[in-house]
Amino acid sequence: MSNPDVPAGQPPGSEWWADAVVYQVYPRSFADGNGDGMGDLRGVTERLPYLQRLGVDAVWLSPFYKSPQADAGYDVADYRQVDPLFGSLADFDAMLREAHRRGLKVIVDLVPNHTSDEHAWFREALAAPPGSPERDRYIFRPGKDGIPGSGEGNRAPNNWKSIFGGPAWSRVTGADGSPGEWYLHLFDTKQPDLNWDNAEVQEEMRSVLRFWLDRGADGFRVDVAHGLVKEAGLPDWEGVAAMVEGTPEVKREPSPPGDAPGAHTDAEEPHRAVSPVYPPSPFFDQDGVHDIYRDWHRVLSEYDGDRMMVAEAWVEPAERLARYTRADEMQQAFNFDFLLAGWDAERMAQAIESSLAASASVGAPCTWVLSNHDTVRHTTRFGLKDPATFPKGIAADDEQPDAALGLARARAATLISLALPGSAYLYQGEELGLPEHTTLPADARQDPTFHRTKGAETGRDGCRVPLPWRQDAPGYGFTVAGAAAAKPWLPQPDSFGPLAADQQDGEEGSTLELYRAALAFRSARELGRGSFAWAEAHAPESGVLAFHNGGVLVLGNLGFASAPVPQGYTVVLSSGTEPASDWSGMDEVPVDCTVYLTKD
Ligand code: GLC
Repeated sequence: MSNPDVPAGQPPGSEWWADAVVYQVYPRSFADGNGDGMGDLRGVTERLPYLQRLGVDAVWLSPFYKSPQADAGYDVADYRQVDPLFGSLADFDAMLREAHRRGLKVIVDLVPNHTSDEHAWFREALAAPPGSPERDRYIFRPGKDGIPGSGEGNRAPNNWKSIFGGPAWSRVTGADGSPGEWYLHLFDTKQPDLNWDNAEVQEEMRSVLRFWLDRGADGFRVDVAHGLVKEAGLPDWEGVAAMVEGTPEVKREPSPPGDAPGAHTDAEEPHRAVSPVYPPSPFFDQDGVHDIYRDWHRVLSEYDGDRMMVAEAWVEPAERLARYTRADEMQQAFNFDFLLAGWDAERMAQAIESSLAASASVGAPCTWVLSNHDTVRHTTRFGLKDPATFPKGIAADDEQPDAALGLARARAATLISLALPGSAYLYQGEELGLPEHTTLPADARQDPTFHRTKGAETGRDGCRVPLPWRQDAPGYGFTVAGAAAAKPWLPQPDSFGPLAADQQDGEEGSTLELYRAALAFRSARELGRGSFAWAEAHAPESGVLAFHNGGVLVLGNLGFASAPVPQGYTVVLSSGTEPASDWSGMDEVPVDCTVYLTKD
């Protein structure tokens, strides 16, 4: 089904995002335009020619708004200002203009679940008494065991844990210094959750959407899209709150037969994944979130051009995730099932099948994601003894990856994901084959998860290290030419030197050239708008993943023995490092390699 709001005259399914390759820029680590060691918007503008040359269609920028940076900008103090660390609104406008001039769309990050505690609203809430309209914009509650009606209590209002570790509640101090109410923060104490039952909150976020749409943003990546609405009464819950993993093994309840695309009785929708031990969490994937996205959909359709939203929603099973992309809600949702499948043919095949089916049932394009700023880079994950594992960061005394093996597999996985129909998301640096920084010293770590768990969780800094652009420059050229270079905000590992963009540019067999070739092939063959069918050679139990997309046969070898090239086919692109002149003579696909084949 097409988006009902496609401008007149545009054929259904032709929206730009339906097959877009979107490149995630993590602004603080992409390129430093002013030499202070922190990436910024000027740096992004300077590097747009690189992104255009890479062959992506759009750029998604992680938050660059005014923020005390307690969670690297996912703690927003002002939704309408650029933090001076990253530049100014004029820098944003210049970047957007230049991106558009180069044919690149721009998606900005929207963080609606929580604000920073330094947001004007939270300050007003602290200064106002319990029960006030200022406090009602957040989730303040009296504690348990207090004097009834006093607003006081010695225990948190319920037993919820923060996703970043520790309790999800903090207590505030009254004007007279006495302990007062508690406020909810699913993440850091400096990220108080907004109350989405409050009309003022709803109106403010509509206005924030309009602010960026008016400036010309093409879409929004919606942070924690499954978390905005909490179950009434905020009941206790015994589960473990986690965004990425650590969720208990889930038992899937049978789903009722699929609904017609766009149908909307939330009560009849597929069941949520239910753990054998825990009921569904009272703070994620509540039915009420969908009313918010229907409302935002209407806001976006007031604008010309096809503006879009993509949900960051860690929701299972795939049918539940698909609900975020029904015809009158968001346009896309990140496919984390695919990301979580790891380097495992059976799991990957299963994730491909279920996510294609679920998104088809609502008429939305599937998305394909392997890495982002919250996960260990896939180059590194795939080099671990268990390449389907999902660690929360890697430290020097943890198992270290086999870098060469991980890179070979990562390149092969990327060719699989770029040949699947739908939209693909790339995380900055994966086109260079960058590994995770797995030996960052503890005193360099900045992720609040590391500090809130007292180091029990290593955290996400290892995938956020500033990019290497030039091997022979201070900070590997992270600071763009012309600016004096301060030390990058996180130290770069030595392995980044030979992987710098200037070392790979024009080098046959380099990861950068592989990405360029794969993106050009995908675009020429319109693979993103193509069809999907498992091929005869598909044998996930033996580690072989094989599918047709239009006239292209894709064969990924995740197994332990080489796989024969099917008769009558010739290799036209390989994830291996052999010269292209060898491809036509290949009659076997080595392990840890993916090839694209066409009929002779
Ligand atoms: C999302 C972001 C993550 C952030 C969290 C809280 O998961 O991707 O980086 O820490 O939300 O905003």
